[in-house]
Amino acid sequence: MSDKKGYLKLNSGFVFDYENLYGEGKVTDADIEALADRIRLAHRAVEHMRATGEVRGHLSKDGEPERVLFSQLPYVQEGHLNSPASIRRLKDFGESLRYKVDTVVSFGIGGSFLGNKVFFDMHCGEFWNSQSQQERNGYPKLYFNGNNIDARRTSEMIAHLVTDAKIKKAHGQTGPYKVMLIVMSKSGGTLDTMSTFMVVYEALKQQEPLIELEVVAVTDPAGGEKATLLKRLADEQGWNTFSVPDGVGGRFSIFSEVGLVTAACIGLDIDAFLAGARDMDEACRTPDIWQNPAMLNSVLKYLAAANHGRDIEVFMPYADYLKSLAEWYVQLLAESLGKRYDREGREVFYGRTPIVAVGTTDMHAQTQQHQEGKKDKVVQFVKIAKWDHDPVIPDGFPSAKKLSEISGLRLSQALEVALESNAEALISEGRFNATFVLPQLNAYHLGELLYLMALSVAYEGELANVDGFDQPGVEAYKRIMGPRLKALKG
Ligand code: PA5
Repeated sequence: MSDKKGYLKLNSGFVFDYENLYGEGKVTDADIEALADRIRLAHRAVEHMRATGEVRGHLSKDGEPERVLFSQLPYVQEGHLNSPASIRRLKDFGESLRYKVDTVVSFGIGGSFLGNKVFFDMHCGEFWNSQSQQERNGYPKLYFNGNNIDARRTSEMIAHLVTDAKIKKAHGQTGPYKVMLIVMSKSGGTLDTMSTFMVVYEALKQQEPLIELEVVAVTDPAGGEKATLLKRLADEQGWNTFSVPDGVGGRFSIFSEVGLVTAACIGLDIDAFLAGARDMDEACRTPDIWQNPAMLNSVLKYLAAANHGRDIEVFMPYADYLKSLAEWYVQLLAESLGKRYDREGREVFYGRTPIVAVGTTDMHAQTQQHQEGKKDKVVQFVKIAKWDHDPVIPDGFPSAKKLSEISGLRLSQALEVALESNAEALISEGRFNATFVLPQLNAYHLGELLYLMALSVAYEGELANVDGFDQPGVEAYKRIMGPRLKALKG
């Protein structure tokens, strides 16, 4: 590990570059010193959470004490939520789809969608579903639905699957076109997920024998009285099931079977992803703030907001396929820390506001505001140091001087210069920013980064004295929406 202040590098090569967030005119040593006792207590509380699952004041939706267990997920052990047997079962499941299932449709929203989309985008990219089965290494096409109640897209997706099935048949596929619907819902009854699932299920059922359907349910495994609606359906219909474990909230569930089922469907390296998360967890055990990336990240962002008014975090990866990572982070930060009450029940209206941006795209849209608008932001960049595919810009039009000047450069070099220029321009005006550097975009480093962010909100919940693991605010609209839907039907 490097201990130069402003720059924390882990043995894996992962870097947290916070030079533009810390120091004179930014978050200072004096800011940090004044918070020292709370930082110590936050570290102790997070250690206690790791050891016991207990988080002071945390209650479930039903007002019952509830353990917080996401920090156990990277450790694949007998008796843990991820055990050698459960990981084996996931891998076997993924293997069983290869060259057998044509298309998977994954239904889910919020925590039952966002992490899965991160996996898909990072591993598959934009063109996976147009590739041949061989190019996909036998893994199925994969679509998402249920992440909105969108009538047009749902209808078009059904039509598309039917057309795809007919094309396959016309090209000589002898058996039926196999579609697997994976329905993910911890609570097992989320309207968005279940309504779209029912529409698609019914429509595709009517296409038998052209299409053969299989359903897999991912939900709370509790049985009996406590069984979710989805669990009951799965038992009734004989659907295969995976678990959303107790103690793992949706926004942390990418490390559980919720995320790992999707990883298995596309052949993403589950072991590497969990190893990345585990190594990050180990790196974050130390009470030394300068060596603990999650604690440092949370302290700097907390103080940037509390002492310097920077309570917006623009999360800006420089990579198209990481836009969904920014969207995942929006849920993590917003649901975890946007809270009306602190743990003593006092009104605090806490929360930093997350914003999605992508470099270089949003340099042509948002950067004007980041550079000259209100000084209320921290821009958090994500940089990929080494790209697997990295074309050189050719000298295609030598007579065009401006184009000729950039020829010979790799696209990644141009991207890196764009990021560095943006960071430098921002800080030259006292606009805070920081950069996470992934040595490469792969499952291991993604595991490191996602886990760092998950653990950071746990620390920040402690610093701000709010429950980072509940989401009472999302119940308010549900109380209005439920009766309205019933009235509409009546
Ligand atoms: O983080 C959360 O708890 C939520 O965003 C949920 O993931 C989301 O509401 C979906 O819930 P469920 O998985 O119960 O369908």
